[in-house]
Amino acid sequence: MSGSLRLDRLLANLGYGSRREVRGLVLDGAVTLDGEPLADPEARLPLAPDLPARMQVDDAPLDPLPGTLALALHKPVGAVCSHKEGGRLVYELLPGRWRRRDPAISTVGRLDRDTSGLLLMTDDGALLHRVISPKAHVPKVYRARLARPLRGDEAGLFASGTLMLEGETKPLHPAELEALAPQDARLTIREGRYHQVRRMFAALGNHVEALHRERVGGLALPDDLAPGAWRLLNPAELAAIFAGPS
Ligand code: URA
Repeated sequence: MSGSLRLDRLLANLGYGSRREVRGLVLDGAVTLDGEPLADPEARLPLAPDLPARMQVDDAPLDPLPGTLALALHKPVGAVCSHKEGGRLVYELLPGRWRRRDPAISTVGRLDRDTSGLLLMTDDGALLHRVISPKAHVPKVYRARLARPLRGDEAGLFASGTLMLEGETKPLHPAELEALAPQDARLTIREGRYHQVRRMFAALGNHVEALHRERVGGLALPDDLAPGAWRLLNPAELAAIFAGPS
């Protein structure tokens, strides 16, 4: 994000309150830059990348600037990515004011209610499209626990580029299966069709009992993120998404 924005508008866009409420915060001296209170809610601020580190609201660093927020969430089983599925929304796992941000935070693709693991979320539309665009072929790596033992022909069929999912007219792109145990597999796919992994195994007469996303591109779910926990991604982690494995 570049350019400049009025202080009251910036704070309102970051969800700190209505224009009137954030003006109150400024007039109360709760907003500081380099340790000095900012007095004028209408002052224009250059949106430099170091602004969040230099600015504080109520003694806490400013949230990421509009259009620059990207995070990794360890999505727990039971949380949902869309209002259409019943359940607790993944957005409820983030700080409350982030739900009032403009631009809004979106999930980068979706995971089913019963799937756990790495879910990226961002308010950066260009980043979102770079990850989910079918042309980007960003690999997504899943671990699946199966109801029945692998037959032995799954890896070949998934890799063939000819497997057709029920109700579809275009075959799946090749995907890689690594058998880890008779009922445990790692699967790498480069598209994001509806319930794709579950439907791939269903197409071969099996059933996915538990599904977990371990990785998106070269970014693995951080080990220190417990289910339900999240953290902001730094530029190196964002770059890792596009840096393989491919
Ligand atoms: N495939 C599925 O079946 N479910 C997910 O959540 C992701 C991929």
